[in-house]
Amino acid sequence: MTRPAQVSTRSTIAPLDLAIILPTLNERDNLAPLVERIERALGPAGWEVLIVDDNSADGTAEEARRLALVDPRVRVIQRIGRRGLSSAAIEGFCATAAPFAAVMDADHQHDPQLLVAMLEAVRAGEADVAVASRFAEGASTQEWGRPDREKLSGMANTLARKLTGVELSDPMSGYFLLRTETARQLAPRLSAIGFKILLDLLATSERTLTVKDFPMNFSARRSGESKLDRAIAFDFLAGLYDKSFGRLIPTRFAMFGTVGALGVLVHMAILYLFLLVASTNFSWSQAIATFGAMTFNFWLNNFLTYRDRRLTEAGAVFRGWLSFIAACSVGAFANVAVATTLFDRGLHEVAAALVGIAIGSVWNYALSSRFVWGR
Ligand code: GDD
Ligand code: MN
Repeated sequence: MTRPAQVSTRSTIAPLDLAIILPTLNERDNLAPLVERIERALGPAGWEVLIVDDNSADGTAEEARRLALVDPRVRVIQRIGRRGLSSAAIEGFCATAAPFAAVMDADHQHDPQLLVAMLEAVRAGEADVAVASRFAEGASTQEWGRPDREKLSGMANTLARKLTGVELSDPMSGYFLLRTETARQLAPRLSAIGFKILLDLLATSERTLTVKDFPMNFSARRSGESKLDRAIAFDFLAGLYDKSFGRLIPTRFAMFGTVGALGVLVHMAILYLFLLVASTNFSWSQAIATFGAMTFNFWLNNFLTYRDRRLTEAGAVFRGWLSFIAACSVGAFANVAVATTLFDRGLHEVAAALVGIAIGSVWNYALSSRFVWGR
């Protein structure tokens, strides 16, 4: 038996048209039924599903590989030591050859049925980006009703519209479709941290991208739990800062500095407590306050500044805490050395102290981003 020629085999396969990027964090049980729903919406060919998993503890990546083994339309990217919905989406744009790409939640909150109309609109040039919107005329949301989140969303939307100059009803939507090339061209200039990927794409593009809204029925999550609830406001602010001043003072350094300033307050509070309330002597009080402030700074930096590289496992947290203290000691040494030298050369004491603090902070930042949260 001779095999049919390559060319004829290929001509029976519809060319790859659309990549559906699914960023995942603990979504194991949602994957198989979602691929089925996508197939029902799009038919048997012309698409691929790209699961970008951040090493979920529930075995999402194993489940994705199990699906991929029997269905070549399913592909898997498992990332280790990296975190974040936005960067997962970017990874997806760069890993597909499909000319069109959509990003959607893997938890069934976004209806794949909408993909057909979104794809046709972008293909026909009606808009650069098709956005599934929770707030457009005709949209509805289920189980969303936390009033604070809705209010926050409303405020964020107004700000976002000012920032991008694009008129759209749901800039924070996690469900959108565009030409993959458009996303890839913008990718090198997107914010590294925080921010919602759609907003980032719109704010980064020099040419104002056109958007078409698609009212969606935002369903309840099928299984598992939301990962974004608490972080949304913070992400948004970080992104806003990054777009406005990020080039002047990098976002992460600004966060690190803010955490450091809060640490000074914590230091003073502890010092006061031990000196006045517990009548401990000054050296002990100062030593305890220093350790307390460093621990607080480590915790808050781990929680916010480096949330995309957060240390979570107990042993790693402990080692991280120790190296943070070591890094800060180097910073403190540089601080005192520089401030003393400047003061000796006649600089005013306040100015000398401030320069010392600035140089110490840069040292702390450089060392801890390399040795505490580095990879
Ligand atoms: N790879 C990766 N890494 N995936 C992630 C991460 C991460 O760090 N965090 C969340 N995800 C995945 C989830 O597994 C899910 O498939 C999708 O990203 C969205 O996360 P959810 O946890 O379901 O978010 P949500 O439903 O609370 O938030 C929705 O509303 C936001 C705006 O208010 C989503 O639609 C968001 O995309 C949207 O920005
Ligand atoms: Mn969701």
